[in-house]
Amino acid sequence: MIRESLPDLANPELVDIVAAKAARAITLLRNIARDYAPVVFANSLGAEDMVLTDLIWREEINIAIFSLDTGRLPVETYDLIHQTEKHYGRKLDIFFPRHEAVEAYARRHGSHGFYDSVEARKACCHARKVEPLQRALAGKGAWVTGLRAGQSATRDRLKVISQDTTNNLVKASPLTDWSEAEVWVYLRANNVPYNRLHDRNYPSIGCAPCTRAIQPGEDVRAGRWWWETPETKECGLHLVDGRLQRTSRQVAEA
Ligand code: ADX
Ligand code: SF4
Repeated sequence: MIRESLPDLANPELVDIVAAKAARAITLLRNIARDYAPVVFANSLGAEDMVLTDLIWREEINIAIFSLDTGRLPVETYDLIHQTEKHYGRKLDIFFPRHEAVEAYARRHGSHGFYDSVEARKACCHARKVEPLQRALAGKGAWVTGLRAGQSATRDRLKVISQDTTNNLVKASPLTDWSEAEVWVYLRANNVPYNRLHDRNYPSIGCAPCTRAIQPGEDVRAGRWWWETPETKECGLHLVDGRLQRTSRQVAEA
């Protein structure tokens, strides 16, 4: 949804709902940090992840925060990394791709090979995101993500806590039941920095060449890998048992 179509963010009922959900998210984060230490939060700097950044750093919850710098992020995301670190006086742990993997990809597919096929796109996501994620998660008891069930067809059966059998640790998504409007109510109420691309109709932001603005009426992830069908639009960070999660429609039709 584009931002202008969201409901009135100052609506007192909505503000109360968000305050209650934020309190529940804090309790959940504290419990996860206690039960599964060491715990890390994968921060893409998207709107949802800025809510979690604010909760974790303001509440001083014992969860380390890392970001995957794919090398292809929009300049606005790098600006936000800088702004976030200044705002909280803390540093994000940044993980980069292995240069050998990126060089091998460029030799085989070219630097824009991801537009040619789903397979070439996934190979790029693997080199630039999935392999660095595996390094970031090694030896950890749980990881936290900013996934929401409402984001896409591949996420509509998302659970708050699950066993990530692909990476072999617990995965927690405290914002599972948050709406997009609730995320924005939180960010506004708490003066949290956010990516200025969100003001230009980019609700979901990934790498620059694979993200574009959406049009009125399009869903929030329509601007991600827009040349692919909704069912393939995951980069491999969020597989279930090593596979893309099936949508509830696919499950019903099986
Ligand atoms: S993606 O799979 O399509 O790229 P999306 O951008 O919706 O993911 O983000 C979903 C969650 O994946 C984020 O809340 C975050 O936990 C994790 N994530 C995605 N991209 C990154 C990144 N560059 N660095 C760290 N975590 C990320
Ligand atoms: Fe490569 Fe695009 Fe995936 Fe980024 S989102 S890793 S540029 S295919």
